[in-house]
Amino acid sequence: MNETLRTQQAHRSIRDYQDTPVNDAMLDQIIAAAHRAPTSMNAQEISLVVVRDAATRAKIAELSGGQAWIIKAPVFITIVIDFHKTDLGVRKAGKTQLIHESMEGFGVASTDAGIVLGMLITAAESLGLGIVPIGSIRRNPQGMIDLLGLPPLTFPLVGLCIGHIDKNAPQKPRMDIKTFRHDEHYDASGYPAAIDAYDEALVYFWKEVARSTGLPWSEALAIRFPEVYFPQVKPVAAMQGLLNDK
Ligand SMILES: Cc1cc2nc3c(=O)[nH]c(=O)nc-3n(C[C@H](O)[C@H](O)[C@H](O)COP(=O)(O)O)c2cc1C
Repeated sequence: MNETLRTQQAHRSIRDYQDTPVNDAMLDQIIAAAHRAPTSMNAQEISLVVVRDAATRAKIAELSGGQAWIIKAPVFITIVIDFHKTDLGVRKAGKTQLIHESMEGFGVASTDAGIVLGMLITAAESLGLGIVPIGSIRRNPQGMIDLLGLPPLTFPLVGLCIGHIDKNAPQKPRMDIKTFRHDEHYDASGYPAAIDAYDEALVYFWKEVARSTGLPWSEALAIRFPEVYFPQVKPVAAMQGLLNDK
């Protein structure tokens, strides 16, 4: 196995960070790696806002529902859907941009943002740093927009904590790979048995890491998925001009 595969297969989210800053050379390399990410139609409709300021990180932690690791990790990167950038290009060419009002636009930008997130993660982990993605910035997207000064046609989609690892985390088990990889045709016949096995494996994992409150996978999802857990996403995206109605 090569170093890249080893890094990727060793992934675990880290929530305990040292106070040590991430030096500029490391951060520049991580961002340069993600800057090479492919984007659909070469739209490059993703931007990053890198926050190192402790007071701003504390505010992001508050907006995200009080996640202490955002305060502790010295770097927080917000991955922004940026149809403001593409709008400038389309206007320059004398046309009116519409894609930002469509599901296609939001889907494409979310896909491209996910690729950037993945590349940031691999780059940071390859340098021995720890990361945890933060979707909870969508709990209060307007707060993030105000805090980071994001213009219309942009949306803060997901964040990423980066820092030097204080306490390494055990690797969380995954559901059987057969529920992930389908060869030639999709086949969900093994799902119920795999879900049963995974529920058991996850409870065992939580016991091993002394998290007595850890739930089986199905029960954890049954708490979040019967509702739209971040209800501000749709109205705030719409206020930003990302109407999602086409
Ligand atoms: C897009 C995305 C958003 C996430 N948001 C949060 C978050 O807000 N807070 C958090 O503590 N972990 C967050 N996570 C981390 C997941 O909980 C974690 O990846 C998952 O439990 C699997 O654990 P592992 O990464 O250690 O393998 C997020 C992960 C992803 C990919």
